[in-house]
This record gives sequence, structure tokens and C-alpha cells, in this order.
Amino acid sequence: SKVTVVGAGNVGATCANVLVTNNVADEVVLIDIKEGLSEGKTMDIMQTANLLNINTRMTGVTNDYSKTAGSDVVVITSGIPRKPGMTREELIGVNAGIVKSVTDNVLKYSPDAIIICVSNPMDTMTYLIHKTAGIPKNRIIGMGGALDSSRFKYFLSVALGANPNEVDGMVIGGHGDTTMIPLARYATYRGIPVSQLLDKETLDKVVADTMVGGATLTKLLGTSAWYAPGAASAAVVAAVIHDQKRVIPCSALLEGEYGETGVCCGVPCLLGKGGIEKIIDIKLNDEEKELFVKSAAAVRKTNDALAD
Ligand code: NAI
Repeated sequence: SKVTVVGAGNVGATCANVLVTNNVADEVVLIDIKEGLSEGKTMDIMQTANLLNINTRMTGVTNDYSKTAGSDVVVITSGIPRKPGMTREELIGVNAGIVKSVTDNVLKYSPDAIIICVSNPMDTMTYLIHKTAGIPKNRIIGMGGALDSSRFKYFLSVALGANPNEVDGMVIGGHGDTTMIPLARYATYRGIPVSQLLDKETLDKVVADTMVGGATLTKLLGTSAWYAPGAASAAVVAAVIHDQKRVIPCSALLEGEYGETGVCCGVPCLLGKGGIEKIIDIKLNDEEKELFVKSAAAVRKTNDALAD
């Protein structure tokens, strides 16, 4: 199996590193427009091979898409990240052009690839790929919910004083500070609803911390985060490459699911070698439904800013 990661910046290089370290694919190609960056990151990563028992082959290239030919999965992380105080939506102008040209290049050499979009504003960039790439909807996956859910589980584990691995929870809706919807009602600790273990005030704070989880890190780091974004992207790649049939919230093109049509928004997706093999339509209560309607409307508004 072959995976291409476009963008050798913080998120792309971290994703490639996790893929290689966990031997997820036989071959990983890292590509960037910045001269030498992919080559350098690749050399650094492959110099861990004998230390970490890595068997994956990795190649780094500058802008030469012929080297990406025949990829099963392509992860798009190219584009500018936000700086402290910025929203993800503000990145649309620059990133739309990058994502469009990258997608064209990728599909020229890997016409059957499954595309995982990471670049922000992610739901809108995923929608842009749907509009312009002319490939079936199951092959376009927006990565956001995997990260937001992992952050939700982290904040829950801190509040519970528990191991994050024993906490389950899911974030749906748009991948934005005000649009994401951590589903507190469905969150559990070892099968026990967390609402029975945490008081309302604590749970509300976990939800609020999750929603601004990315912004908090951007403030602390001076630029947006990469370890969890890279690992979350790699988890989505693994679910597809290994046909895991795992349910991970991803941005998918909705055609009636959750009452929405013609918008990409985070929903639980069954992932396998076909990409998004199924959207799981879970029952939301009235309050959650209202949040989802608002969230989809906000994503639509951002989509409207795309040039025709
Ligand atoms: P970064 O600035 O560290 O890396 C971006 C890389 O893209 C740079 O190396 C740049 O040279 C490259 N690039 C720019 N134009 C390109 C092109 N046409 N072809 C190939 N490469 C190109 O940024 P970082 O932190 O890695 O973030 C990347 C993107 O991912 C940003 O848009 C960020 O907002 C987004 N992001 C999304 C997350 C999500 O959950 N969906 C989480 C974290 C970041």
C-alpha cells in the first residue's frame, strides 16, 4: 500500500512520522513545494528506522507528483495554519487555491486514490474537493472529528482523573471553535455515561474546553498544533488502508443524513478500504439537532465565500 502526504509542514510531517513509525503502509511519499523540506523531513524520520524497527519505505520530494503515482490514500495538509487570535475560516482565500491545485495534481497520478482533507477551513476545503474533483463522494474524507473527539476524550479524562484510553466520546458538526458539537450525552467512561460521574458544571467546562482546544494550543504555541492533528490524520489513513471498518467522525458530503443536503459536516462515518463506506445516522435530541442545524448553516456560509 502507498500513502502520499501533501505538505511537509508541522501536521504533514507528523502524520508521515506516525504512519512510518507504526508501519501503517508499505510506502509513504511526502511532498511539499518548499525546496528540500520533504527531503529533509524524510531523512530525519528514516534515521529513526533502525531505532524504532521501521519497515516502511519513505520518499521525500519537492513538487514532483510523478513520485506519488498509484497512491491508495492521499492526505492533504498543504496550506497556511492559523496564528493566535485567528479563526480557521479566515484561511479560506489562500488555502482554497492550494487545495484545488494540489487535488488536480494528485488525481493526475493517482486517479483512484481516497483523499483525506486536513487543510482548513476543513469542512469547506472538503466541499471544494467534492465540487471540483469529480470523484465519488465516498472517496473524499474531511479530517476534523477524529482530532476534536480525541481532544474531547482528553479533557474528559482529565476531569475524571482517568486514563484517556478508557474514555469514549464523539464530536460532530463543523470543525470550528463555535460549530463543533461534543456529544456529552453519549460520552462514557468504561461504559458508564460520564453525566453520572461529573456534575453539569464540570461537563459543560469539558465541552467548552474541547471547542476551543485548537485555539488554546495556538495561543500557547504561537502556531497551530501538530502532534494530535498528525496522529488523528494517520488514524484515518490506517482505518482506510487496513479496511478497519472503524467508526470515526469525519466531514462527509451529506445528502439527506442529519436533515442536511449539499454540505460537508462532521458525522460518524464507517471507514474502510472504500473510504466513507457508510454514514451512521444517530438519533439526536432536540437540543443537539438545533446545534447541528446551526453548525451546518455556519459551514454553508463559509462555503459561500468560495469563488465559483
Ligand atoms: P505548516 O505551515 O507547518 O505546513 C504547511 C505546508 O504546506 C508548508 O510546508 C508549505 O510549504 C506547504 N505548502 C503550501 N502550499 C503548497 C502546495 N501548493 N503544495 C504543496 N505544499 C504546499 O502548517 P501546518 O501546521 O502543518 O497546518 C497545515 C494545514 O492543516 C493548515 O491549513 C491548518 O490550519 C490545518 N490543520 C487542520 C487540522 C484539522 O483538524 N483539520 C488540525 C491542524 C491543522
